[in-house]
Amino acid sequence: MAISYLKQLLTLTLILLAIATKISTCTPSTTRVKAIYYLDNPTFPPSSIDTSLFTHIFYAFVVPNNITYKLEIQQQQQQGSSSKATSLTTFTNTCKTKPSPITTLISIGGANSNSSLFAFIASDSTARATFINSSIEVARTYGFNGIDFDWEFPQTAKEMNDLGELFLQWRNAISNEAIATGKQPLLLTAAVYFAAGLFLSGEPRNYPVDSINKNLDWINVMSYDLHGPWNNVTGAPSGMFDPRTNVSVVSGLFSWIRSGLLPEKLVMGMPLYGKTWKLQDPNKHGIGAPSLGPGPGVDGGIAYFQVLDFNKQTGTKVVHDKQTGSVYSYNESSWIGYEDLFTVSIKIGFAQALKLRGYFFWVAGLDTRDWEISSQASKAWKLV
Ligand SMILES: *[C@@H]1O[C@H](CO)[C@@H](O)[C@H](O)[C@H]1NC(C)=O
Ligand SMILES: *[C@@H]1O[C@H](CO)[C@@H](O)[C@H](O)[C@H]1NC(C)=O
Ligand SMILES: *[C@@H]1O[C@H](CO)[C@@H](O)[C@H](O)[C@H]1NC(C)=O
Ligand SMILES: *[C@@H]1O[C@H](CO)[C@@H](O)[C@H](O)[C@H]1NC(C)=O
Ligand SMILES: *[C@@H]1O[C@H](CO)[C@@H](O)[C@H](O)[C@H]1NC(C)=O
Ligand SMILES: *[C@@H]1O[C@H](CO)[C@@H](O)[C@H](O)[C@H]1NC(C)=O
Repeated sequence: MAISYLKQLLTLTLILLAIATKISTCTPSTTRVKAIYYLDNPTFPPSSIDTSLFTHIFYAFVVPNNITYKLEIQQQQQQGSSSKATSLTTFTNTCKTKPSPITTLISIGGANSNSSLFAFIASDSTARATFINSSIEVARTYGFNGIDFDWEFPQTAKEMNDLGELFLQWRNAISNEAIATGKQPLLLTAAVYFAAGLFLSGEPRNYPVDSINKNLDWINVMSYDLHGPWNNVTGAPSGMFDPRTNVSVVSGLFSWIRSGLLPEKLVMGMPLYGKTWKLQDPNKHGIGAPSLGPGPGVDGGIAYFQVLDFNKQTGTKVVHDKQTGSVYSYNESSWIGYEDLFTVSIKIGFAQALKLRGYFFWVAGLDTRDWEISSQASKAWKLV
């Protein structure tokens, strides 16, 4: 890798450090977040998670019933099943009894859940109260330490406003419950868009930043899936920069900070997977090369450990691109944008320069068997 590239990144980090020093005049004591989501997966039980590498783990997902507005716990989530799913109780117990115990949160929603249902719940005071009550009851019943809300995504400015009200009511209920029971208050977090506003489609709409500052412990910024085979050209799925579109990790995080969100409420997301493209012409293989849709993997997605297998094939080239601060590899007409040890280290340095709260990964099971990326991230955060 070119030395000049490293020099440029070092300069950038120094500039960012200078900016960050101006931004955060106070540094309240907050726990560091090194988190990962866990998607219930028969081939990857919670016992296989190396909890020494993380501080928090998010169980994904539960969703509310569309008539009662209470969280619907599937039978296998209640009881587990001999062959496959893990029960919620097994999950939290496993995470707590590891040699390095880890804080658990239950995540509500997800990309495939019903966005209009959340819109209704957030807007209706009765449904909202029922939903909030149920979330606290479920978190306590199954032994979680917190609740995460993953609404993808509010569609209008009004829905964003309702989301702010939902957070306020949620925080009040959590505080009241903690006082009434004498227990440690549950954590309350949300998974959000890569930027403080949604502007690529539909009505422009901004997140309720004041309510987030006041009512949430932090937000998980989904700084990934920024480019994919749907663009018809190759791109860095979680690139630091994008000179052409501003759809990048850095512009997203800056938009959150410019909007007034406190840096210590920001947790930066990183993918443990790549996005894949099929090149139109194997000789045009840079960023922005014309493509014909998804390449290898399932629907254009491929686990990091599988990217390493792809990279081992004769003929595969790996490129660190300085314009986007990203890595990609290609072989004939297959093209993959992903994260490697180097890009993850650079991002962690950047997150620390901005004085962010921490980082999270989507999702457990996609790293190598020996947790190569997760270990690097954990080490990288400690160094500076
Ligand atoms: C509730 O969800 C079920 C299952 O997705 C769906 O079939 C049904 O139409 C929904 N009902 C309402 C009232 O939204
Ligand atoms: C999603 O929720 C809305 C509002 O409750 C409902 O009208 C719709 O039927 C739901 N869709 C599904 C697929 O359940
Ligand atoms: C939820 O509602 C039930 C019934 O009203 C009540 O007994 C319980 O205390 C509420 N739980 C919380 C956490 O507010
Ligand atoms: C990608 O190509 C398809 C088919 O030609 C087209 O319908 C779609 O609008 C293109 N998408 C973008 C983002 O350009
Ligand atoms: C990128 O963001 C900058 C600063 O907000 C803006 O001036 C510029 O027009 C944007 N460029 C594109 C391509 O959107
Ligand atoms: C990669 O290149 C090698 C050698 O040219 C070839 O055998 C292999 O099939 C290629 N793999 C992909 C995914 O294109």
